Amino acid sequence: MKFFVDTANIEDIREANALGLLAGVTTNPSLVAKENVSFHDRLREITSEVEGSVSAEVISEDAEGMVKEGKDLAAIAPNITVKVPMTLEGLKAVKQFSDLNIKTNVTLIFSANQALLAARAGASYVSPFLGRLDDIGQDGMSLISQISEIFDRHAIDTEIIAASIRHPIHVTDAAIHGAHIATLPPKVLKQLVQHPLTDAGIEKFLSDWKKQN
Ligand code: E4P
Repeated sequence: MKFFVDTANIEDIREANALGLLAGVTTNPSLVAKENVSFHDRLREITSEVEGSVSAEVISEDAEGMVKEGKDLAAIAPNITVKVPMTLEGLKAVKQFSDLNIKTNVTLIFSANQALLAARAGASYVSPFLGRLDDIGQDGMSLISQISEIFDRHAIDTEIIAASIRHPIHVTDAAIHGAHIATLPPKVLKQLVQHPLTDAGIEKFLSDWKKQN
């Protein structure tokens, strides 16, 4: 499983990229709105920093508007992936982007059927939202399992991005259940590094070293 970071904050993206393991970035309108910057300018900054896929979401609700917006976004850099909501209009737009060889990430996936439809329309990625399902008392992780099994059984090469990740257990479970990618809030990426026994081990090694030197 690969790691994306789920933020539009350029400092956080640079910090994550410096780790040498970042395979891409996802943004959404809420994350961009927090930054108070021009969306296109921020995408230029992000795409010049990160080589992998950078998801930029359209806000139109009709396919024609989505395609127009998406073409403008895709013109910013070759690694832009157009993020499209899981709606009937979104599916129509995904098919058109696919015909134009523009990559798409179908977002707000909450069922296996939605993921299958998106894949068949030509989506490069689907984003099932784990945390938001957990929030309403449903099992987000079983959705990853179902999508993974369906895509494997039908030889579908659309990649599964485990999204709406809230904590490190989501990350381990998403990898076990077959997600190709997890898109992580920067805070969760940092949490993955930490373990109290690692900290205690470093402290002990250093104190033993100092006793002898
Ligand atoms: C993914 O692409 C979304 O931007 C994101 O994971 C949504 O997460 P949230 O449910 O924490 O807002």
